[in-house]
Amino acid sequence: MSLQAARNQSASPAGAPADSSKALYGGKSTRRISVHDIAAATERGEKWPMLTAYDAMTASVFDEAGIPVMLVGDSMGNCHLGYETTVPVTMDEIAILSAAVVRGTRRALIVADLPFGAYQEGPVQALRNATRLIKESGVGAVKLEGGERSHEQIELLVDAGIPVMAHIGLTPQSVNAMGYRVQGRGEEAAQQMLRDAKAVQDAGAFAVVLELVPAELAAEVTRTLHIPTVGIGAGPDTDAQVLVYTDMVGLTGGKVPRFTKQYANLRQVLGDAAKEFAEEVVGGAFPAAEHTFH
Ligand code: KIV
Repeated sequence: MSLQAARNQSASPAGAPADSSKALYGGKSTRRISVHDIAAATERGEKWPMLTAYDAMTASVFDEAGIPVMLVGDSMGNCHLGYETTVPVTMDEIAILSAAVVRGTRRALIVADLPFGAYQEGPVQALRNATRLIKESGVGAVKLEGGERSHEQIELLVDAGIPVMAHIGLTPQSVNAMGYRVQGRGEEAAQQMLRDAKAVQDAGAFAVVLELVPAELAAEVTRTLHIPTVGIGAGPDTDAQVLVYTDMVGLTGGKVPRFTKQYANLRQVLGDAAKEFAEEVVGGAFPAAEHTFH
């Protein structure tokens, strides 16, 4: 039996079908999803999808497609703003793009990343910056990286009424110290990952991202916690899965990580459209009569 089925079985009376009208993905409700809906979905043993978004128009497409949770990730550094890593991303950049994503959506829970340098000084700095994203950008939750090392920040934000999604395993803001490699391999590292997961749950996080973690360890973390786990490169047994949208739609140039899956080839589609437009301009076919005023 899968982990999800096990969670499901413990939550519903024997034989009772889950009420699909309440589902995070495919459910009937049109109001804005809250962290309570996320907890209820986990109780029901439901899996759910999360995508990153960095602008209003793309976010509106994902909202209409029924994606229940969107992350204004600091992956905007590499995927939207042209930086090499997430490290240079600023609070101003996150705040502006988060507000755009909120404006572009009606139903999805919008989670904004606290960028590198916005919470490492301590809980008070974390509270100041998270408050800005909640008040100014209108997001429903924030995300920050780190397990035991971030538990004080998480506690203060949760005490102040700010829902927090945690992020452990590979934490890209620490790329300069950590590199990009699978985390939690070996007994000692696996035990530390379990301690980190419990620390963020105990601090009050409503969910935790597990990035680049061996599938067996991600499954154990998922079994151990009562809050949902959101996997990226963490195998099939987490409660939710997140992908960086530019990877998912084939917009990212060059090599993409093995754990990602490309569901479309927008790079090709956009390139072809741009070439067709250019050729029609050069050849005089655009604008035609129907695009012209007299
Ligand atoms: O910034 C981001 O997109 C993220 C996801 C990879 C979880 O943190």
